[in-house]
Amino acid sequence: MNKEFSVDPDVATAAMRAQWDQAARGWRESGAVIRPWLQQATQAMLGMAGVKPGAHVLDVAAGAGDQTLDIAKRVGPDGYVLATDLSPEILQFAAQQAAAAGHRNVETRASDGQNLQVEDTRFDAVVCRLGLMFFGDPLQGLREMARVLKPGGGICTMVFGSPQANPCVTTLMSTALGHAGLPPRDPFQPGGLLSLGKLGLIDDLFKGAGFREIATTSVAAPFHLPTVKDYMKFIRTSAGPIVEILKSLDGVKAEAAWADMEQVLSRYETATGWEGPNQLLLTAARKS
Ligand SMILES: C[S@@+](CC[C@H](N)C(=O)[O-])C[C@H]1O[C@@H](n2cnc3c(N)ncnc32)[C@H](O)[C@@H]1O
Repeated sequence: MNKEFSVDPDVATAAMRAQWDQAARGWRESGAVIRPWLQQATQAMLGMAGVKPGAHVLDVAAGAGDQTLDIAKRVGPDGYVLATDLSPEILQFAAQQAAAAGHRNVETRASDGQNLQVEDTRFDAVVCRLGLMFFGDPLQGLREMARVLKPGGGICTMVFGSPQANPCVTTLMSTALGHAGLPPRDPFQPGGLLSLGKLGLIDDLFKGAGFREIATTSVAAPFHLPTVKDYMKFIRTSAGPIVEILKSLDGVKAEAAWADMEQVLSRYETATGWEGPNQLLLTAARKS
């Protein structure tokens, strides 16, 4: 048991799986928002992990496979990509997308990142895009990623940065919790959206997992959307953690919560559209 929060890790992992099974279709259908939002940071992540032609790459928490397609393109026909995720539902979309794009060297495997069903020293590179912060035990996740890397192999993870630099996320969380009658949460609580955004924390976890040459780069990745309504549509269909908080409310109360979030976030409307601030951390390292 995690004493601090009294959560059984198996129960927490099962709840996380159910949450993403439910959000799977929404995340896939939001590809048109997610792809441009994360494209630049994704290319940086793949470069930092050393994803290159012919490489064998493990994609952890691959989701609907958006970055899997970028990896497959980079490694080319002589490379190989294994896309893994806790949620079998969302991973189906990764398999479909890879097949539709004609990538024959992509396989998928449902697997908890904290207990990868993968042999030791199998991969040249590991990436994990917006997944590690959801792990109840991210250190264990990083140890698993180190285990499956070849000596000298590269890793790069992408997580959300600090609460201050991610005001849209903090607004969504606090508004949802308030409407659900729940107390404010420590943003760094394990498994939360911003849990790895505490200064220095992710570097310490990488050190604990035995990596060397650890470097974290902060990247601005603002949303550029026509209106706040487009952002809210994305959140309503794909943001599992926010949807989960509002699950206990009846329809009218839930709608009031969504309307409140939209109203607060409309402060980021500009003359040329809606620009929501967002900061990501890319942490790159190498296995000894
Ligand atoms: C925000 S989505 C990111 C998906 C994809 N990497 C992307 O950027 O489009 C988070 C993903 O993390 C996965 N996830 C959460 N906890 C996990 C765990 N313990 N092991 C593996 N995947 C996990 C979820 O199932 C979900 O697909």
